[in-house]
Amino acid sequence: MFKIAVLASGGGSNLQSIIDSIDKGYLNCKIEMVIGSKEGIYALERAKHKGIATYVVSKKEYGVKVSDKILELIKDKVDLIVLAGYLSILQGDILKEFKNKIINIHPSLIPSFCGPKMYGLKVHEAVINSGVKFSGCTVHFVNEDVDGGEIIFQEVVPVYFEDTKEELQKRVLEKEHILLPKAIDLISKNEVEIINGKTRTRGVF
Ligand code: GRF
Repeated sequence: MFKIAVLASGGGSNLQSIIDSIDKGYLNCKIEMVIGSKEGIYALERAKHKGIATYVVSKKEYGVKVSDKILELIKDKVDLIVLAGYLSILQGDILKEFKNKIINIHPSLIPSFCGPKMYGLKVHEAVINSGVKFSGCTVHFVNEDVDGGEIIFQEVVPVYFEDTKEELQKRVLEKEHILLPKAIDLISKNEVEIINGKTRTRGVF
């Protein structure tokens, strides 16, 4: 069975979309553990509710050793690390040990509106202020560059003149909840190939 670890920092609606996809039989994998970046986040509640093992690896407790602690928890236990609204930046050995085995979901069309400090509602606010007519979300592999790994999937949504950042966030999240389980599914079936900084996806999408 393909095993994943999900890392989260907030509400965990993307985690929930993975849980629901597994429950519906659409996604054939096991969430081995959920690691939160702090106590009290709702993502951890969602995991506990399903009987999934949870851990908290906080910056407060581990400082610059956060990535090493996470690596210690997951080494030899999972096939893929899924960053689902995880706000810290992974660094060091975990990126080598899990090369091409870490994915992230970002709420914009990378390479626009991404990079350091571009997270949460800030992304949607910047999108609205820029006047672009389309936004969306991106699932990508994680490497040393923030939001810089190979793009796996993108989905597009319209941006309306009257949109608030919250409205746009909601529209994008609906797409995220479809895209992330799809990416995990295809990776688990070995149907995502990386070639010269780009990905080629086999299978139905
Ligand atoms: C999502 O918009 C995701 O793209 C971003 O953080 C947000 C997390 O939302 N990385 P949730 O915690 O999954 O509800």
